[in-house]
Amino acid sequence: MTPPLRFLTGITTTGTPHLGNYVGAIRPAVEASRRAGTENFYFLADYHALIKCDEPARIQRSTLEIAACWLAAGLDPQRVFFYRQSDIPEVTELTWLLTCVTGKGLLNRAHAYKASVDKNMAAGSDPDADVTAGLFMYPVLMAADILLFKAHKIPVGRDQVQHIEMARDMAQSFNHLYGEHFVAPEAAIDESVAMLPGLDGRKMSKSYDNIIPLFAPPAQMRRQIAGIVTDSRAPGEPKPVEGSALFQIYQAFASPAETQALRQAYADGIAWGDAKQLLFERIDREIAPMRERHDALVNNPAELEKILRAGADKARELARPFLAELRHAVGLRNLAATAAKGGKAKSAKVALPSFKQYREADGQHYFKLVDGGGRLLAQSAGYASPHEAGRSIAQLRKSGSAGLEPGLRLAEGVAPADLAAALELLAQGQ
Ligand code: TRP
Repeated sequence: MTPPLRFLTGITTTGTPHLGNYVGAIRPAVEASRRAGTENFYFLADYHALIKCDEPARIQRSTLEIAACWLAAGLDPQRVFFYRQSDIPEVTELTWLLTCVTGKGLLNRAHAYKASVDKNMAAGSDPDADVTAGLFMYPVLMAADILLFKAHKIPVGRDQVQHIEMARDMAQSFNHLYGEHFVAPEAAIDESVAMLPGLDGRKMSKSYDNIIPLFAPPAQMRRQIAGIVTDSRAPGEPKPVEGSALFQIYQAFASPAETQALRQAYADGIAWGDAKQLLFERIDREIAPMRERHDALVNNPAELEKILRAGADKARELARPFLAELRHAVGLRNLAATAAKGGKAKSAKVALPSFKQYREADGQHYFKLVDGGGRLLAQSAGYASPHEAGRSIAQLRKSGSAGLEPGLRLAEGVAPADLAAALELLAQGQ
């Protein structure tokens, strides 16, 4: 049986969810969460929100509204992992471990940070004016979100792809130093998801101030839809669907047959006021049942809090033991346990470490390095022939360092320093 594919998405808790979020992220994610053979993680990225927003009340309100929206849209917290980032202390702990394997130069190249620097330079200010270390570290925090749960696929917009690549880089750096602990994540971009235009025809986005809130009261939604830009074509005049924001929004909610009917109505010269009425009714048909659940949750924050805490408990069952493994890997260890091992290693010094070559059922040739006491230190990747494996061994003996050996993996509980010491011993013993 293949293990389930893990998907993970974070939602930054600033602002109120709008129709664009619903069509572009919430609706497809809720559908995706029902696929068999997958495990799905959705979390409220409230630590990320602190980077953009210093208004406590807004952070709290937005967390409440976003949580309510996702649940109202049909996300089942029993079936998925649904939690709040700041309820998982392992996220911040991992952030530090990753910080220590991340090149500062890598972060210098992050788009969001670079954009701020470029803007400052253009304005003749200090390059880092008003740039917090939080903004600079954003990709590391995001990598911790992802790597903590060994997620394979990260559904994101194009603007986030670089962050996923950076998370891969950090996973690889860490694995290279401390053994294979992390899964390398990949961005998953859904090309079929529509980009929703806003009131002014540009992409619907908070930053353009052109949004229609997802759960606005019906009267407000009707008013806002009436404000969508159209042209000056009179009732009875045929209207093109190309470039019509109204048509595109309708299409994002309607069935193909309904869309076809509106296309015809455009050709037949439907009045803009009537088209807007159709759009309002179509959206309301989908949203109204969810609105009730949304309003009930927003009015009962204690219930929401309970759901989120239960989600955090579930997520921490995975996070806690994994972080213990990682702490051990980097050497944050119980001193008593280390002392016992150190004692053993001393008596084992009499015998030299040695390489053992073998062949696996997959037909590939491998070798491992064991210390004088027989403890497994490291394991190679597969080689096509015994000669190739032998060449790598010779190389390792000569160099006295594992630095150049691709695919060499540290055994569980072995520190890189142990391996380095063993190789050095071998190099000296020749
Ligand atoms: N940075 C993401 C955004 O602004 C939100 C986010 C935080 C995220 N952590 C994540 C997305 C981890 C995917 C995976 O959209």
